[in-house]
Amino acid sequence: MNQPTHPLGEIVRRSDGTTSLRFERELAGSAERVWRALTESDQLRHWMPCDIVGPREAGADVTAPFWDDVVRRFGIEDTVLSGRIVTWDPPSTFAWEWDDELLTFSLEPNPTGTHLTLRVDSGDKSPEVHQAAAGYHMCLDQLCTLVDTDNPPRFIDADPSRYEVAYAGFPRSANYDPAWVVENMMGPNPLWLTESLSGRMDLDSTMRVLDLGCGKALSSIFLAKEFGVQVWAADLWIDASDNLDRIRAAGVEDRVFPIRAEAHELPFADSFFDAVVCIDAYHYFGTDDLYLEQHLARLIGPGGQLGIVVPGLVEELTSNAVPAHLGQYWEPAFFSFHSPAWWQRHWERSGLVTVELADLMPDGWKHWMASDLSWSGHLGKPSDEADMLAGDQGETLGLTRVVARRNDRPTARLTELQ
Ligand SMILES: C[S@@+](CC[C@H](N)C(=O)[O-])C[C@H]1O[C@@H](n2cnc3c(N)ncnc32)[C@H](O)[C@@H]1O
Repeated sequence: MNQPTHPLGEIVRRSDGTTSLRFERELAGSAERVWRALTESDQLRHWMPCDIVGPREAGADVTAPFWDDVVRRFGIEDTVLSGRIVTWDPPSTFAWEWDDELLTFSLEPNPTGTHLTLRVDSGDKSPEVHQAAAGYHMCLDQLCTLVDTDNPPRFIDADPSRYEVAYAGFPRSANYDPAWVVENMMGPNPLWLTESLSGRMDLDSTMRVLDLGCGKALSSIFLAKEFGVQVWAADLWIDASDNLDRIRAAGVEDRVFPIRAEAHELPFADSFFDAVVCIDAYHYFGTDDLYLEQHLARLIGPGGQLGIVVPGLVEELTSNAVPAHLGQYWEPAFFSFHSPAWWQRHWERSGLVTVELADLMPDGWKHWMASDLSWSGHLGKPSDEADMLAGDQGETLGLTRVVARRNDRPTARLTELQ
């Protein structure tokens, strides 16, 4: 699995909607060597998408033509941007504007080489700042390899997409191979959903976790690797032996135990689990008023946690009339989607749990849409869900996230109910 090679930069969003990015790097070369890499055309070729053409002096107007192979690969229409050199102070500060971005490079010599800070101030108010951050991160990877080894890989082959995930708020998920995820996902990216959920739960390596409706066990593998918990990976549709292959390949067979199980016949002892996690599955069975009482709550020890992320609604529909813009996509199964407030009431009125969090996962509809685009791209199918979500823009649909803790109230034993 891929590991990011350098620390993530910082994204600062200003109140007027503009942004600033800040990256720090330690380079092995001298400040003079780094300066050359930042400013000379034969060096820029290895780490920037464009050249800088014009005099190297403060106040000089320059142009920034994209390299031909970059233009071809990304279908760039404006192939030459205008720019200006703002600060030229070798070998410590180089600042230049291109398009609506000001790049400021500050170099400080240190005993091992040079500490480089890049600050990017952007007048762009686009919400896609994580893509820009991912792009600069990738460029700096190339720059570091250029200075440290003089042998960087070809710029045109560098791929910023996995950093987009990290900058979009999923730094743990960014460490997993995107091809592995897209091959095994069964709905919105399960790693992103699990990362978003687990960040709001208390998990540690002493715990036993039930991953209910785990599908192809990506969330189970993630929980075991990231938190050291033991996970029982239970699913109905996916064969436990297939999941074991995936679990073994991920190197966590000592901590993740696959089992074929139906959510109404879970073969575990009372209070066996410290936590139950359920990713994009609870709505298949958990909307039943009696499900928590009769099937799930008994498995969670006192004070244990229950966390779910499910496709949901911003607010409950007041009738069976579906918003007109969703009509062409709507399926009857979507009536199992509910709002955070609905789930909170549904769980709390049982008296069995106290809800600690009920919200929409931040930017959940966008992550769901991005997941569907990559999934349908992988399968070569039309992305109907992505079209639906793009048309809705988060007005109606989102990903509902709920975390609750088990109260002391006992459940009725199934044997007594039968
Ligand atoms: C959309 S998939 C999501 C799988 C996985 N959590 C993920 O996010 O990739 C829904 C999963 O719920 C499971 N499921 C649905 N009904 C179930 C039931 N009654 N008992 C156990 N699992 C169930 C299915 O087996 C399926 O793998």
